[in-house]
Amino acid sequence: MARVRVAACGVLFWDEGTLVWDDYLHQRQLALTENSEAVLRWFAQWRELDTAEQSGPRHRAIADRLLQTGVLIQENSAEHVAEHRLLTEWRAWGPATRYHHFAGRTVADTRYLEVWEDEAHFAEKAKQEPPPPAAKSYPGQPLILLPKGRPDDAGWPRRDLLDVLYARRSTRQFTDDPVSLAALGAVVQVGGGAVEEMDHPDIGKVLFKTSPSAGARTPLELYVYANRVQGLAPGLYHFAPLSGGLENLCRTASAQELLDAVGGQRWLADCAFLLIYTAVPARTRWRYQSRRAYRDILIELGHASQTVLLTATAMGLGAVTATAVRDELLERLLGCDPVTEPILAVTAVAVPRDPAANR
Ligand SMILES: Cc1cc2nc3c(=O)[nH]c(=O)nc-3n(C[C@H](O)[C@H](O)[C@H](O)COP(=O)(O)O)c2cc1C
Repeated sequence: MARVRVAACGVLFWDEGTLVWDDYLHQRQLALTENSEAVLRWFAQWRELDTAEQSGPRHRAIADRLLQTGVLIQENSAEHVAEHRLLTEWRAWGPATRYHHFAGRTVADTRYLEVWEDEAHFAEKAKQEPPPPAAKSYPGQPLILLPKGRPDDAGWPRRDLLDVLYARRSTRQFTDDPVSLAALGAVVQVGGGAVEEMDHPDIGKVLFKTSPSAGARTPLELYVYANRVQGLAPGLYHFAPLSGGLENLCRTASAQELLDAVGGQRWLADCAFLLIYTAVPARTRWRYQSRRAYRDILIELGHASQTVLLTATAMGLGAVTATAVRDELLERLLGCDPVTEPILAVTAVAVPRDPAANR
């Protein structure tokens, strides 16, 4: 008879008196009875299902239910293979990191509020519970006043930077105009291309980009959904920094598929092109086993997406970075494996409807 044990990609905790099994691989939470805990202890190691009664009376029926709901898994089953893959890839960063990462992955049916629902919700919430202040201050401490607002850059050797930084705003209203392939190329080249390459004698090719990367491990990958790009067929592409070109994935997505994948945010689906950021965590993990290194990947996303936003702004394009997307649907569009190459975020780029406001 096949053996079973407790699934490895789950976390058990008490929530106000209820024992909760959080299956972070499938984003499901189940309330367990207290007897279940004894059964789970018994099946902490691989055992035959028939042995359940040895841990307590009526435990076989509980074990059957736990097996049906995936809290117990069968040896060599598809679930066992799936968790083995995940553990092999993510073991070095420990259970807290993989729990945090996979529990936050959004699935195909993740519900997002419409804009008006969202605004109404927060207007109501602010009445009951005002938000924390937007910034911290120490009112009792001596204050050294600094010149307010945009600094005087008259003496700076590179003065254009402030124009771009102060002009950047998340832009959500676009015209129907296409953008050129050259413009797309400029954005991806600045955002994800190699500025310098080094052939390291021990570790091989190392890339240096416009954004910093912990240990120069460059875990981020950049994909493009071309929607209205002159000279480029609509569809999905991968930007390859080594060749500096776009690799045609020969995949496309209908307008509805794209809209669903970007969490129903029309202004994102309405872009001229959408950049999709993924990461290959193995590159970072190869060098850093510390759990903190996981954060480096997210920090690097912030650097890269800001670089893209500023580049688009400098070019007179509008752009907005977004994370309220449906990871599972974006994974399907790209054909990415969430275990080895998770989705991080998207940036929509297009011609802004009001270039002055750039909103
Ligand atoms: C991590 C992150 C996630 C965001 N997600 C979304 C999103 O899902 N949809 C969206 O329209 N804007 C999104 N934004 C843009 C913010 O709403 C925007 O930055 C904020 O309102 C401040 O405006 P500004 O970018 O013009 O300074 C996101 C920004 C960040 C940094």
